Amino acid sequence: MGSQSALDVVLSGLRRLEYRGYDSAGVALLADGGLAAARRAGKLVNLEKALLERPLPTGCTGIGHTRWATHGAPTDTNAHPHLDNTGRVAVVHNGIIENFAALRTELAARGHTLGSETDTEVVAHLLAEEYAAGADLGEALRRVCRRLEGAFTLVAVHADEPDLVVGARRNSPLVVGVGEGEAFLASDVSAFIDHTRSAIELGQDQVVELRRDGVTVTGFDGRPAEVRSYHVDWDASAAEKGGYPSFMLKEIAEQPRAVADTLLGRIGPEGTLTLDEIRIPARELREIDKVVIVACGTAFHSGLIAKYAIEHWTRLPCEVELASEFRYRDPILDARSLTVAISQSGETMDTLMALRHAREQGSRVLAICNTNGSTIPRESDAVLYTHAGPEIAVASTKAFLTQLVACYLVALYLAQARGNKDPEGIRSVIRDLAGVPGAIERVLAGMEPVRELARSLADQDTVLFLGRHVGYPVALEGALKLKELAYMHAEGFAAGELKHGPIALVDRGLPVVVVVPSPQGEPLLHGKIVSNIQEIRARGARTVVIAQEGDTEVVPYADHLISVPATPALLQPLVTTVPLQVFACALATARGNEVDQPRNLAKSVTVE
Ligand code: G6P
Repeated sequence: MGSQSALDVVLSGLRRLEYRGYDSAGVALLADGGLAAARRAGKLVNLEKALLERPLPTGCTGIGHTRWATHGAPTDTNAHPHLDNTGRVAVVHNGIIENFAALRTELAARGHTLGSETDTEVVAHLLAEEYAAGADLGEALRRVCRRLEGAFTLVAVHADEPDLVVGARRNSPLVVGVGEGEAFLASDVSAFIDHTRSAIELGQDQVVELRRDGVTVTGFDGRPAEVRSYHVDWDASAAEKGGYPSFMLKEIAEQPRAVADTLLGRIGPEGTLTLDEIRIPARELREIDKVVIVACGTAFHSGLIAKYAIEHWTRLPCEVELASEFRYRDPILDARSLTVAISQSGETMDTLMALRHAREQGSRVLAICNTNGSTIPRESDAVLYTHAGPEIAVASTKAFLTQLVACYLVALYLAQARGNKDPEGIRSVIRDLAGVPGAIERVLAGMEPVRELARSLADQDTVLFLGRHVGYPVALEGALKLKELAYMHAEGFAAGELKHGPIALVDRGLPVVVVVPSPQGEPLLHGKIVSNIQEIRARGARTVVIAQEGDTEVVPYADHLISVPATPALLQPLVTTVPLQVFACALATARGNEVDQPRNLAKSVTVE
């Protein structure tokens, strides 16, 4: 809200947030004493087309939303903003209102007609009732929030208050941008970065009122809240494609720099580590008796790899659990446990809930996160930030590699703090990490054959991925990338497990990608996986082998060989993952898919 055309500001903000993934969009503007809205299923272009056909009156206050369907299909009617029956109140919402069914029944009994299948619509009706009963809009929103259960970020306007926008936050993110005579609200600063770099972070259970001349923040109870302002220092151009056809390709190419930035200032030439961010005192780190990692999606795969490193270097038992499963199985944690929550966005609700559960059990919580000031780091005892820069493509690439780096750093730090029986071995791995950006650079330089292979497989129905040791989670990640981007049936297996069932899937011509461990680092496993490749080849599989440069043993069994530079065995995922990302991206493109925003997916999933 301010003096610019709200429609332009809102649409450009929504465009910047497109990367989060959505399936419908809408806007509402306050103009000419009334409220005008437009909503459309599908991408923003559909909404823009509708606005060209039936333009809205010009107004300087407006709200907009891109919706990722939870309650109700992605249709025009279910798209936000939602209006009350008088058409004077409009609301947009992220999250899930868990008691919406009861509220809906109650509203229907009082004569309201609800037109959508969403949980959101009840808020517009409740807000209109409170306002009609005499509360000002901020107070009306606070009253409504006190009645809502679940997670919600709400933004609302009322036609009687053309110079006011109100917002509320519980769990899902909401940030205020403060400009000159104008103010903004968004779930992410990138939405308003073209207009202001001055931001205010809203806390849990707070309501904000935005006016031309200022911003007030209160708790849901009406008490004034302390606000924390900060300056947004990232560069808007970092969020542009920079000449690449997609954000995903740009982000894959940025990986050497992302890894180097994540190591910067943390490792020294002598194999020393500086991790001041891990504020947990050395004495407490020595008392830890187990590490528990919680994460979702790609971040979960980085956790699976971290387990090998943590157990090997620190001799501490390490569990890795999908965050969405974690708290429901009643995990055993106490003050001697260290829970590590890994999240690119820092807003994933499943991960946040898992970390809260861990804290309630008395565990220390360390976050590994890519987004400054997001909820997961704020609720953790300490945070190790990855420096991947903004990751826009929905499917994670550079954030994954930097998560791995951060996990290795944590494992090595724990090993040093607790005393490892081979301190020189630990220092040597730290020195080896410094060479990883260069190794990734070399992998990227040789990717044309991988792209060619991917294009030749565009008509396949299934691709399998096999690995052993740290190569197993890499196989899982390779399969996930292909599912996300190419919408293909793809599965990752531990190569040794293949014979216990999945080998029945192998048929003539089936592409099977095998991630081979280093022959020097893991000689025993290397021999075993070479046998596994022979087993599938004997059954007609078309083998795509990712192996270390100079690994001649695999050559006779590889229909396609992808070589990666040598690294210490545990660090190998930093180079073997890269061809799998390129493979999935090229295959998806060959199938005509939009790689940055795959169907049905969202970048930041703030519902459980
Ligand atoms: C979503 C994304 C995935 C991502 C996962 C975890 O499902 O589509 O790409 O890996 O969330 O996200 P986080 O931000 O917690 O790393």
